[in-house]
Amino acid sequence: MSLASGQPMTSELLDTFDRPLRSLRLSVTDRCNLRCQYCMPEEEYAWLPRDTLLTFEEINVLVSIFAEFGVDRIRLTGGEPLLRRDLPTLIRMIGQHARIQDIALTTNGILLNEQAQALFDAGLHRVTVSLDTLKPDRFKTLTRRETFDRVLEGIAIVEKVGFTGLKIDTVAIKGFNDDELVALIEYGKSVNAEVRFIEYMDVGGANDWSLTKVLSRAEILLQLRQTYGPIEPLIENSSAPAQRFLLSDGTTFGIIPSTTTPFCATCDRSRLTADGFWYLCLYAKQGIDLREPLRLKDLEEVRSRIRSGWGSRTDRGAEDRKNLEQSSMRGRFIEIEKLRQDPRLEMHARGG
Ligand code: GTP
Ligand code: 5AD
Ligand code: SF4
Repeated sequence: MSLASGQPMTSELLDTFDRPLRSLRLSVTDRCNLRCQYCMPEEEYAWLPRDTLLTFEEINVLVSIFAEFGVDRIRLTGGEPLLRRDLPTLIRMIGQHARIQDIALTTNGILLNEQAQALFDAGLHRVTVSLDTLKPDRFKTLTRRETFDRVLEGIAIVEKVGFTGLKIDTVAIKGFNDDELVALIEYGKSVNAEVRFIEYMDVGGANDWSLTKVLSRAEILLQLRQTYGPIEPLIENSSAPAQRFLLSDGTTFGIIPSTTTPFCATCDRSRLTADGFWYLCLYAKQGIDLREPLRLKDLEEVRSRIRSGWGSRTDRGAEDRKNLEQSSMRGRFIEIEKLRQDPRLEMHARGG
């Protein structure tokens, strides 16, 4: 069997826990036009130098190699991916690979209104918009920007241009938006989107994180039952982080319980930063440099780094973090000084 690139299909890769490599999250820029407190709480950031950012052609070469190893799902993330100029061109390129079944986008929605049609026309399959509150003043407090209306406009246009399967991702934070769960589900119904509540995670730059702010899956369900009555779990055989649930009126929603109930055992995902470093876990402190051999045109070395990287993968980052709770050691994940020295440690550099 051969790929469009003419390269032979390499056999599927398994890591040390027999987890296959299936999903690649491409961070196409580390820039963002919001400053969400749970992701980018600082005033100043060190950005990845421009000349280190991979071109679309370079990203596409890597995608074709990852596809040889079994990757069939791509998610475009950032920072905010729609800040990367001409993203539809990259989507068209990635869409050429027969092996890639799914191309999805995670966005904060601000630029969707102007770009949704072009993204759809380029062959993007699915859109997920991050939205944590329906209250404009809260949005401003959380994101330190006043673009709430643009996000709602962006969400409204997704279906109009032809997309189906819209999702809304909400990080659920105690004392911030825990009184909006029902309002968000109702809003989701009105725009034909499935809402997913994400447990607040202690990743990268989430320096304001504390266990006391995590609204757990159990608490989310308890609260929603008070309004909606019985909630049924949907039994699905999937490696996706979201557990899905059904309300009695047929509405579905998801919970991503990364903090209290990690799903590392089935994790088939990895991340590529905009400057070509490959991370095998959301919590990984070190990435694998694919840019260097790529720019030397040594594609065999790229393959070799992917093969040996995934083959020796032992990461179970969220489980490791959870295990620290037993000894009350779950404190700050990464010190601010270290984050400043290595911007790739930030969630906004490796994709949410
Ligand atoms: P689908 O392709 O629609 O199933 O997407 P998904 O369920 O993978 O969700 P998405 O990519 O939108 O990610 C939603 C959120 O889940 C992210 O913003 C993270 O908070 C969390 N998440 C995603 N991937 C991982 C992961 O590998 N590990 C952990 N711990 N959390 C993750
Ligand atoms: N906890 C949980 N999710 C987070 N994201 C970013 N930071 C965090 C965090 N600390 C996720 C959110 C957002 C996406 C871009 O990244 O889901 O919607
Ligand atoms: Fe995968 Fe790491 Fe997330 Fe666990 S914490 S699910 S291993 S990315």
